[in-house]
Amino acid sequence: MSPAFRSLNLVFLGPPGSGKGTQARILSERYRIPHIATGDMLREETRRRTEFGSSVKGYMDKGELVPTSVLNGIVLRRFDSDDCSRGFLLDGYPRNVEQAGLLDDLLAELGRTIERVVWFKTDDELVMKRLTGRRTHPNSGRVYNLEFNPPREDGLDDATGESLEQRSDDSEDVVRQRLQVYNDQTVPLIELYKMRGLLVEVNGEDSVENVTEAAMKAVGSPVGL
Ligand code: AP5
Repeated sequence: MSPAFRSLNLVFLGPPGSGKGTQARILSERYRIPHIATGDMLREETRRRTEFGSSVKGYMDKGELVPTSVLNGIVLRRFDSDDCSRGFLLDGYPRNVEQAGLLDDLLAELGRTIERVVWFKTDDELVMKRLTGRRTHPNSGRVYNLEFNPPREDGLDDATGESLEQRSDDSEDVVRQRLQVYNDQTVPLIELYKMRGLLVEVNGEDSVENVTEAAMKAVGSPVGL
């Protein structure tokens, strides 16, 4: 029988390019919970050239994690928003053991728990192909891929006709560094959440539609959301 949840707090884990963002956009709509992507929040700050954005850009361009002490203020403020009362879908947070501890503390304060951690297991070689071919429309966040999901017209967003961009951290060298950081700092979370009985594994290498189906099956059917 599918599990039932009063609120739904989900964490998406996986290497860069495993499709976390793509799936988070789809599932947050289906479950009607906000998609909280720390990477998107940080990129928005750098795009607006805020003081905070300038302070984190160097880490992101090198493929390093932004220090938790620097990042945590914006994450906590986001959790405090009204739209998070029915739950949230975390994409890219927590990213290391320190952040997982902070998330536990915060949820305990709110009297809530994580319901599921979905791990999008994906091979390094495929990740490299997906990320070097990724193109985004910065204003809407729409994501394309030169090989797997190309825009109708080369280099242009389907809906607006505006130019697509390549993320500054999607070069081969930086992707290699991001994978290293993922293996060193994020992979330990897989075991942590497995031990707590929260982890579900999904094959991130399948088609977008099949991954969505597998992720929804793994999460279950929340009632009352
Ligand atoms: P972030 O933006 O979170 O990047 P990431 O985790 O490296 O993940 P990506 O956004 O690159 O990939 P994704 O898994 O979302 O894949 P997507 O769906 O786009 O973080 C960036 C930086 O911010 C970090 O390096 C760090 O500096 C900083 N940061 C963020 N959070 C932090 C934190 N908590 N602590 C400290 N620092 C933090 O898909 C990729 C491509 O593949 C697309 O082109 C897509 O169209 C295609 N695709 C997706 N799914 C499929 C599929 N099933 N089949 C074929 N193609 C597919």
